[in-house]
Amino acid sequence: MTETELQTPLGLLTLKRFPVRAADRLRAWDAADELLIKHLHEQQAELKDKKRVLVFDDQFGAITSFMCQMLAASGHPVSIDVITDSLVSQHAISQNVKGNGYGERDVSFIDNTAIPVKPYDLIIYKLPRNHGYFADVMQRLRSNMSDDTHIVGGVMVKYLPMTVLTTLGQIVGETTTSLATKKARLIFSHFDSSLTPTNPYPTTYTIEEIDVDLLNHSNVFSRDSLDIGTRLLLAVMPESDDLLTIVDLACGNGVVGISAAQLNPNADLIFCDESNMAVASAKANVARYFPERNAEFYQTDCLEGIAKNSVDLVLCNPPFHQQNAISEHVGWQMFKESLQCLKSGGEFWVVGNRHLDYHIKLKKLFGNATLVDSSNKFVVIKSVKR
Ligand SMILES: C[S@@+](CC[C@H](N)C(=O)[O-])C[C@H]1O[C@@H](n2cnc3c(N)ncnc32)[C@H](O)[C@@H]1O
Repeated sequence: MTETELQTPLGLLTLKRFPVRAADRLRAWDAADELLIKHLHEQQAELKDKKRVLVFDDQFGAITSFMCQMLAASGHPVSIDVITDSLVSQHAISQNVKGNGYGERDVSFIDNTAIPVKPYDLIIYKLPRNHGYFADVMQRLRSNMSDDTHIVGGVMVKYLPMTVLTTLGQIVGETTTSLATKKARLIFSHFDSSLTPTNPYPTTYTIEEIDVDLLNHSNVFSRDSLDIGTRLLLAVMPESDDLLTIVDLACGNGVVGISAAQLNPNADLIFCDESNMAVASAKANVARYFPERNAEFYQTDCLEGIAKNSVDLVLCNPPFHQQNAISEHVGWQMFKESLQCLKSGGEFWVVGNRHLDYHIKLKKLFGNATLVDSSNKFVVIKSVKR
């Protein structure tokens, strides 16, 4: 077997990580996926009538692909609803499901900010790292659960604090765990219709620096307070009547683009993020403060879909991880695509941790990199497209 082949009790699955990178030796599944697959297969007889299936936070599609195998093996139509906040994950799940012989119509992606009320027989999840997001989604899924819903999650033990189990007990119902196997555990919850939990999300907080209250869905970066890197960027934001198109790249709740909108009244705004909840939050925040302004919102990977040579200014506080793995690739991709999308003379402004040495990468790409401001931890750097 190769590093992309997972032997399941129902056959071989080929699973790749996305984006595909030549030097990437990591697998597209972990021991928690394997434990979930083993459990689902062992319960096959009991689960045979459970054909309304939801899979939540399956990173690269191991669980979704296995459920396709299992539904097909038991003669059910393959129809699985999937919740993921990440467009990159969505792409990975689609590609892996397709690569294993299942069609686009076998899997439907659900908007995690507007989960439709629809009964599920089986809810399977990988525990997200963001437990507030997990609690938010599980709580909203209560309307889709009944006494008969089989609810099972998988997690690597090192990512399972006891507080999550307590929370699940409070928002779903009685919760237990399996013994650990290969440092992974299963989590079982039984729906309790008598519980009446309250959900704090979406939440709002005030950003005094720019005098706005911003709404945040539960999986948005810095959803409780302003990031200190972002704060440094807000203090030096460019301001000019000549800026006609500004992109807030990796926009989160849209704080950077909203600040740019305040200072640059002639500019049209473009907000991009691969997180559905980020884009939804930015949209709500712009609608509140700039309802008349020309603004576009894209759930997209970096700047995919934005026209080349079309933009005056790109502002960015890049992520330094993708799909839970620390990676500088995504920042580099953002820099390269910004260079392509900028008009000649257009500027790329980035804030980042000092130790990431963004100025070296930017100098290589743009041929110039100017330090605009710095603090003990962060730097704001500007590069101009010549
Ligand atoms: C450091 S946060 C910055 C958020 C916001 N601009 C702020 O300053 O609070 C980085 C953002 O990048 C987004 N992101 C991660 N990978 C991405 C990708 N491949 N394409 C677009 N956005 C991405 C994350 O969802 C996150 O919102």
